[in-house]
Amino acid sequence: MPVDIKKIPLPCYVLEEDLLRKNLTLIKQVSEIAGVEIILAFKGFAMWGAFPIVREYINGATASSLNEARLCFEEMKTKSHTYCVAISDDEIDELLKYSSHITFNSLNQFNKYKEKAKTAGVSCGIRVNPQYSEVTTELYNPCSPNSRLGMCIEHFKETLPETLEGLHFHALCENDSYTLEKTLQAFEKKFAHLIKQAKWINMGGGHLMTKQGYDTNHLIQVLKAFKQRYPKIHVILEPGSAFVWQTGSLYSTVLDVVENNGVKTVIVDVSFTAHMPDCLEMPYRPRITGAIDPVEGKPTYRIGGTSCLSGDFMFEYSFEHELKEGDTLVFEDMIHYTMVKTSTFNGVKHPSMGIWTKENTFKLLKKFGYTDYKNRLS
Ligand SMILES: Cc1ncc(COP(=O)(O)O)c(C=O)c1O
Repeated sequence: MPVDIKKIPLPCYVLEEDLLRKNLTLIKQVSEIAGVEIILAFKGFAMWGAFPIVREYINGATASSLNEARLCFEEMKTKSHTYCVAISDDEIDELLKYSSHITFNSLNQFNKYKEKAKTAGVSCGIRVNPQYSEVTTELYNPCSPNSRLGMCIEHFKETLPETLEGLHFHALCENDSYTLEKTLQAFEKKFAHLIKQAKWINMGGGHLMTKQGYDTNHLIQVLKAFKQRYPKIHVILEPGSAFVWQTGSLYSTVLDVVENNGVKTVIVDVSFTAHMPDCLEMPYRPRITGAIDPVEGKPTYRIGGTSCLSGDFMFEYSFEHELKEGDTLVFEDMIHYTMVKTSTFNGVKHPSMGIWTKENTFKLLKKFGYTDYKNRLS
């Protein structure tokens, strides 16, 4: 059943349980058939009120900071596969407490903390850079020339350092299995001798297996073939987006319609920069329910965010009807990398967060108020 807007406090991010379960079912199937471990990357989705549902299907997560590792321990009820770009002395002990695996970004950091990790019984890995990526948006390309992410092959000798058990690469972003296949070719060309010595390989995220048209059978084939080439290895995938791809929207209300120089802008009670930052960062144009790219003759509006940032708007969309104060605008697919990235910039009202349950009820998880804004500052 579709979400009943009358039952939701607007503005609000609404995760739809049925859609989440659909994605989780597919991910679990891939994991079982391919014989690999698939864990959730918190950086893409960390709405922990939904973790009890996630835990019915998978039982691991990857953390990229101490806060995420702790959240994993507390709310996923398991230790995390942790990868941090850099770890500080005042974080390492606590980080190890919450981690089953720890991937370092450099051999320098591995050497610094390997003894502590050994004592804590945490399996160590190193992020490597396969220097191959099909990610075209530079902001999201971990393998751009001179990238700081992962070590290139020239830093390694013929054997893996003692106690280094895993290799990790992350070179995909919203890619398909054919890109993974080519990335693996590049990875193996450089690192095959080290892969043979490793206990586990983490193939990072960016595997968008829940997107319509993604060839999951091919993904399974690629993973099985890899495992045949390296029979002793444990394979881990850590997608974020794929878990919550197209599982919910951001519901907003039109507060005003302004017109300058013949351009009409509807002002909504959400902000692109504060609540949908990737729209400006990436940038990309979000889908809005019932709206299309501008068509002459149809009611057409820019969509303006509620912050004072001049660029906090999206260029024109056309609608079937004139828009007016009080109308609802629904920004689609706003669950991955949205809630985790929001800010309280400008003090604008932060959307609530909730779940549209499979019983067709609304479960409010969080409503934001003045103290949330105030407590971020001092
Ligand atoms: C190391 C690492 N793992 C996993 C992910 C999750 O990627 P995605 O959400 O595209 O699947 C990211 C995303 O940036 C990442 O940097």
